[in-house]
Amino acid sequence: NPAEHPSFQAVLSTVRGQVQNYLDKSDEVIAEVARTAPAGVSERMTKLIARKGKKIRSTILALIATSGETPADESRIAHACAGIELLHLASLVHDDIIDETTMRRGERTAHVEWGNKVAVLIGDYILSQAMRCVIDEESREIPLILSSAANSLIVGEISELDHTGNMNLPLADYNAIIKGKTAALVEASAKIGATIAGFDAERIEACGKIGTHFGLAFQIIDDLLDYGIGATNLDKAKFTDISNGLVTLPLIYYFESVSTEEKASLQALLKRAADPGVAEEICKRLEEAKAFDKAKETALQHIADAMEIADTLPMTEHTSSLKSFLYAMAERGN
Ligand code: FPP
Ligand code: MG
Ligand code: MG
Repeated sequence: NPAEHPSFQAVLSTVRGQVQNYLDKSDEVIAEVARTAPAGVSERMTKLIARKGKKIRSTILALIATSGETPADESRIAHACAGIELLHLASLVHDDIIDETTMRRGERTAHVEWGNKVAVLIGDYILSQAMRCVIDEESREIPLILSSAANSLIVGEISELDHTGNMNLPLADYNAIIKGKTAALVEASAKIGATIAGFDAERIEACGKIGTHFGLAFQIIDDLLDYGIGATNLDKAKFTDISNGLVTLPLIYYFESVSTEEKASLQALLKRAADPGVAEEICKRLEEAKAFDKAKETALQHIADAMEIADTLPMTEHTSSLKSFLYAMAERGN
């Protein structure tokens, strides 16, 4: 019943509304960074930031930052959110170059508009400004968390590249890749929020784990969307991963469960996955082997793990919003 189970988008809007003042302030910080950038950067960065993302990471940051007993420091939260969103944006500019993606957030990607050389440098500028946003008089923890997250993104991305075309990608490597390229930034958002909330080290770690599980679930669901699983017609293009030689969870589960012959047969099909008819056949085999169901179950298990940890946090209005957010995420995966 859709009325009882609001969509992920609907819950995201409601929950985001509860921290809207921080997100608006963060947008102002970001706009100021773009406005005061030198010629050559300012106009291009202004164009990029006009394309709004979902702000999932900064919403999580602000929710956790305001769930403690200490009164919220609006400017500190806004600058932290700006740092997270800018790091995310920089990584997307670079990711689209690497993946040769032509559209992002409904617009032409940066490298399509300005060429690879300029797009790399715009991404670099945004990355360095992300770090600058979180330089903090009060603690050195937040810049440390953000720069570690940037390192993880880079290492995750390199590992993904190193494994491109590897049809025997081990589960542990897949997990390490998505932990690095996606979950690390959500983990950082949660930990920065927890640091601002004034939580002790143990609770900061717990929040980090909520972020990690959320991020892992998010990427697994995203990888399923690439097969058209759980997709609405508004979602991204199908079969880009298999066409690009990217092995994700459904394939790993399929290979684990079938005979050597079936495995070889699918690997042969994967070489021709750019053909939509072949991609559909691959999908059919994964479906029959319940590989999609199994991947969905894994995503739901991550959500359940995140929920369990969320239950150990002090119960405030914002922790309960965090839980509805997690719950909606699980619904998205159903
Ligand atoms: C999107 O994943 C991309 C990422 C989650 C991270 C990309 C990270 C880098 C390029 C390296 C780090 C860069 C900086 C500036 C620190 P995807 O390609 O699977 O998803 P998509 O469909 O959104 O493109
Ligand atoms: Mg990528
Ligand atoms: Mg990409």
